[in-house]
Amino acid sequence: MSTRRRISARISAISESATLAVDAKAKAMKAAGRPVIGFGAGEPDFPTPGYVVEAAIEAARDPRFHKYTPAGGLPELKQAIAAKTRRDSGYAVEASQVLVTNGGKQAVYEAFATLLDPGDEVLVVAPYWTTYPEAIKLAGGVQVDVVADESTGYLAGVEQLEAARTERTKVVLFVSPSNPTGAVYSREETVAIGRWAAEHGLWVVTDEIYEHLVYGGAEFTSIATAVPELGDRVVILNGVAKTYAMTGWRVGWMIGPSDVVKAATNLQSHATSNVSNVAQMAALAAVSGDLSAVAEMRSAFDRRRQTMVRMLNEIPGVLCPEPKGAFYAYPSVKELIGKELRGRRPQSSAELAELILEEAEVAVVPGEAFGTPGYFRLSYALGDDDLVEGVSRLAKLLSEAH
Ligand SMILES: Cc1ncc(COP(=O)(O)O)c(C=O)c1O
Repeated sequence: MSTRRRISARISAISESATLAVDAKAKAMKAAGRPVIGFGAGEPDFPTPGYVVEAAIEAARDPRFHKYTPAGGLPELKQAIAAKTRRDSGYAVEASQVLVTNGGKQAVYEAFATLLDPGDEVLVVAPYWTTYPEAIKLAGGVQVDVVADESTGYLAGVEQLEAARTERTKVVLFVSPSNPTGAVYSREETVAIGRWAAEHGLWVVTDEIYEHLVYGGAEFTSIATAVPELGDRVVILNGVAKTYAMTGWRVGWMIGPSDVVKAATNLQSHATSNVSNVAQMAALAAVSGDLSAVAEMRSAFDRRRQTMVRMLNEIPGVLCPEPKGAFYAYPSVKELIGKELRGRRPQSSAELAELILEEAEVAVVPGEAFGTPGYFRLSYALGDDDLVEGVSRLAKLLSEAH
């Protein structure tokens, strides 16, 4: 009998996406008739704008789009993404610097696959989005965590990053607004981090997918534009999923220097070829249109954000800094770990989240999924009534902890 493993070491080391798993469990309980309220979703609860859907229908009827198109994206979409990047990030790029991908996720994967050699280190601020570690690992890279907690609103500073830098550091990952914390770096903080990266010859991979979802006085700053000293060592990741409520359409992109984009396009040409033409034409309508749909979503998210943060902070043992962007709150529940609740004593945020799902029929994602146990991520991309009902159930249950 062969002693070879059935599944390669590289692939068996990949964990299931914890956020998708929580969402799937909540949906399954719902389908079984249980009144679950899910705070796990990483997507807007709005439909895709009508004009985007119409563009897709039209494209589906056009025989040109029934065939293979260039692996790196439709030329007109690449042009439009370059124009949109100039409009929203103030960053001047050519269409040749754009690679259209199957969602932002593929852009994350391809960026690290293209930049990293085995042993290259990537500085990642924790709490971090679950996909980054897997993409870095698959590329042979080594993730170095820089942990930020609620005391700084989950923001890391240059000193912390510098303490984690070694001669093997190649990339610093910069995500603002952040999933899972909703933290947004100010222009000054962004510039300081960018200048420090430039000074040490580091690459910056920056995920701008939540650029249009910022609230109150917070402002989105593109590190690529704010720090020209970075030169061509910047890769921007973005997509239509969050801005235009298009998570299911699967269109994202990577922007970088031509050689990096060319290499990543070669990779994609063998992995997936072109993104679905119909979805690309929908994305073209989205990025060429105005930002009124996202403005509407933003005002609903802002209202829900305020309600959620206020209600969470009223629960004894829960501490929630105000998120400034994206659509997530990231409260600390450290004080509740080890306390008795309904005859059990959860020893981790993962165990507490499980108990909450069973006892209160409320789904939250435990901080373990984001590299920081002791926290929950709650999405506020759900209806106002469900939000209030869900957090009320949480409050009722958690107030029994002793
Ligand atoms: C920070 C961040 N980047 C990228 C993505 C990728 O989104 P998609 O692959 O749906 O375009 C997500 C989705 O959750 C995200 O939260």
